[in-house]
Amino acid sequence: MPSVYVKTYGCQMNERDSEAVSAQLVARGHTLAANEQTADVVLLNTCSVRDLAEQKALGKMQSLIGVAKKQKTGQKFGFLGCMAQSRGAELLEQMPGLDLVIGTQKFHRTADHVEALLAGTARRVVDTAEEAGSQNTIREHLVLAETPGTPGEIRPPSVPAQISAFVSIMQGCNQHCTFCIVPSTRGEERSRPIEEIVAEARALVARGVKEITLLGQIVTSYGKRDYPVVNGRGAFVQLIEAVHAIEGLQRLRFTSPHPKGYGADLIEAFARLPKLVENAHLPVQSGSNRLLKLMHRGYTRERYLEIIQQLRTSKPGIGVSTDIIVGFPGETEEDFAETLSLVEAVGFDMAYVFKYSPRRDTPAAALPDQLPDAVIEERHRRLLDVVNAVGIAKFHALVGRTVQILVEGPSRRNAARYEGRTRCNKIVIFDGNERHRGQLLDVRIERVGTFTLYGDPAVVGLDNAPPSVATDPAI
Ligand code: SAH
Ligand code: F3S
Repeated sequence: MPSVYVKTYGCQMNERDSEAVSAQLVARGHTLAANEQTADVVLLNTCSVRDLAEQKALGKMQSLIGVAKKQKTGQKFGFLGCMAQSRGAELLEQMPGLDLVIGTQKFHRTADHVEALLAGTARRVVDTAEEAGSQNTIREHLVLAETPGTPGEIRPPSVPAQISAFVSIMQGCNQHCTFCIVPSTRGEERSRPIEEIVAEARALVARGVKEITLLGQIVTSYGKRDYPVVNGRGAFVQLIEAVHAIEGLQRLRFTSPHPKGYGADLIEAFARLPKLVENAHLPVQSGSNRLLKLMHRGYTRERYLEIIQQLRTSKPGIGVSTDIIVGFPGETEEDFAETLSLVEAVGFDMAYVFKYSPRRDTPAAALPDQLPDAVIEERHRRLLDVVNAVGIAKFHALVGRTVQILVEGPSRRNAARYEGRTRCNKIVIFDGNERHRGQLLDVRIERVGTFTLYGDPAVVGLDNAPPSVATDPAI
């Protein structure tokens, strides 16, 4: 039985796609290999939002091909995903030894291509073209992963049941931010029907999943063209309500949203729906109105601050996180100062800070005044200092407080301990065991590590016993 190893470089969207591809391969009789060395076929699924992930994946592939050639393993190698979509045939030309390139609209054909390669009926395959009616294409691969009655097929059987799972609700993005490659790698927005998403979520909860993250490139634009607004609630909030109603589901998250999608209906939903965790991600990108316009973000600094204010009024204590790009072409010291002041004004719980990376065929890559690396590096460091100071203070403020965590399993940082996440997605490490897995547990925060918290469940009792100290849900 041929075995396949699928590795992901990049975002949660890619993780989800890798799961779908793995499930498809297993359904067709392949096995999933434990590592690259023992696999007959190695597939690297690669994000191309920034250059770094691409470079890592290209380097990895180069070295795998080198080893395989030397040892004459006869292994087959392929790229999947966004980088495959944007570079296409060029990858095969540049990389002798590479056999397969499958774009984001063609995941559903992965097993066909792998089998053709293994059987020798195809030698080198590129499949990246977008078909008319690509909605069906997308559905096909999404459904493949969720065939009822095939539990355990998504991952090798040795992996324990998932506690937290992603559900794709849409593909693509129409926002066309000038720095972003996603609209060209993922195409136009296409949303899945609410019933289909709810059925998938229900099946996951029946298998023991406690937390669901709704996934898409711009989830707040979900279903805009497909569902009318009902009682002031847009399609995305209607979807949230439908998933929220699933019995047994404990927590509901979503990623990635756009700030413009935080309308009154979504802001109000945070206050109304208890399973919707009080943690809002609002990628701001810049604090300068001039740059926001050049980036084509569709909001101003003032509007952004107003949304944050409304969220905090609706749900006091709500966690707020963001993405920021430093060094967008033409960014002046004044523009950058506006970003610094916005970060201080908001006091983000968490911020992902990215160095601007020019992406092919994006409008920003053609702008004059691309900044030198040294300037970007220096601003990146300065911004990180501010972001970290605010974030760490928020972590320290939790010491001595009791928080609710969803236990995910053994800690990735310390295998002797267990870990879980707070509703605001902060990792808490504690002295746990297998019976805690999947439980909602109240723990008292004892101390702070580097962006981790250490908690003690013994203080407040085990097995969902009522906490002796009031649990603050917004942590
Ligand atoms: N909604 C999308 C956003 C993708 S990119 C999703 O999650 O799929 C995630 C973040 O990467 C963006 O919010 C932005 O801050 C950053 N990013 C995107 N393109 C970039 C580029 N060209 N250079 C640097 N950072 C970028
Ligand atoms: Fe990219 Fe902007 Fe859409 S960052 S994914 S074009 S909202």
